[in-house]
Amino acid sequence: MGAKVYFERGGIEKYIPEIKKYGKKVLIVSGKSFIFKSGLFEKITGTLSKEGIKYISYPGANPEPDTENVDKGAELCIKEGCDCILAVGGGSAIDVGKAIAVVATNGGSVKDYFGEVQYKNEPLPVIVIPTTCGTGSEVTRFAVIVDRSQNTKKTVSSEKIIPKLSILDAEVLATLPVHLVVATGMDAFSHAAESYLAKRADFISKMFARESLKIILEFIPQTKTEPCSLDAREKLLLASLIAGFALNRTGTIIVHGMGYALTILYNTHHGTANALLLPYVFEYLKRNGYEEEMTELELMWGDTERLNNFVKRLGLPSRLRDIGVGKDKIEKLAELAVVGTQRSMKNMKIQIGRDDFKKIFESAW
Ligand SMILES: [Fe+2]
Repeated sequence: MGAKVYFERGGIEKYIPEIKKYGKKVLIVSGKSFIFKSGLFEKITGTLSKEGIKYISYPGANPEPDTENVDKGAELCIKEGCDCILAVGGGSAIDVGKAIAVVATNGGSVKDYFGEVQYKNEPLPVIVIPTTCGTGSEVTRFAVIVDRSQNTKKTVSSEKIIPKLSILDAEVLATLPVHLVVATGMDAFSHAAESYLAKRADFISKMFARESLKIILEFIPQTKTEPCSLDAREKLLLASLIAGFALNRTGTIIVHGMGYALTILYNTHHGTANALLLPYVFEYLKRNGYEEEMTELELMWGDTERLNNFVKRLGLPSRLRDIGVGKDKIEKLAELAVVGTQRSMKNMKIQIGRDDFKKIFESAW
């Protein structure tokens, strides 16, 4: 799998000393809020100091991180002579960390490294502590970054940015707001389901995808009971991890690329955007070449209507109009989906164009 993973409550203090194997001075990449308010920053830096590992903090990973977030971080990393990245956060912090690792040793801007690139210089080692239960980025070769010049997200993809070490400690999730547990959990759901349908899916990846989906279907409804237990959160963290294994093998299909437009234009949370679109995309695929695969998947959740109701019961928006999309914006969304799915279209057995995207968005409206 490439990544070394610890999955254990209390694992942060226990395994941070291993960072010494990878570097002497770490750049801690994070967002601005959760890591500081939750006391996690003190916990991490306290352990680093005890071990004699130097660090610099870069809290510059925005929720939808763009190229500037990466380039500024890389600049700081070089200036401070950091030889290792410690990314702490959800997918945004982890992806910024992975992208900084490339730019810091190869120069230029992250814009030079979108796509599958062979790097001249080895990227810095990346260590990851996820604080949500949806990204899977702790074990994948992808870093997804917003390119504002094209109004879409682009991906840096390379085996070399798979984190060297990931510490998954469910205690970190104890104070994560329930709506984020649900939204990120549904992102993991989308990773698993899209991976299952991707061209490169095989026995192993499908095994991980299926198990991930089963766990999410069982435990995500439990987040609605008060209080949302740490056990349920931990199960979702596990589901997110194994969906990441599946995703790393296959990539996503079109749901993610279609969702980018909703995130960029309407500020819809990444996981929420995927959850909203999934039933409508599946309904389309079921009638256009994916009958067999969809029948297998529907054994787990029933038909499209049931999946749509499942999303609704979680308190998530289930139609485009629920997030403020006007019907006149469907044309624009279809246009952006063409750009957003450029990469993932390679993972599809059928090719989908602008008119088909329009149809899917219309049904989702
Ligand atoms: Fe995702």
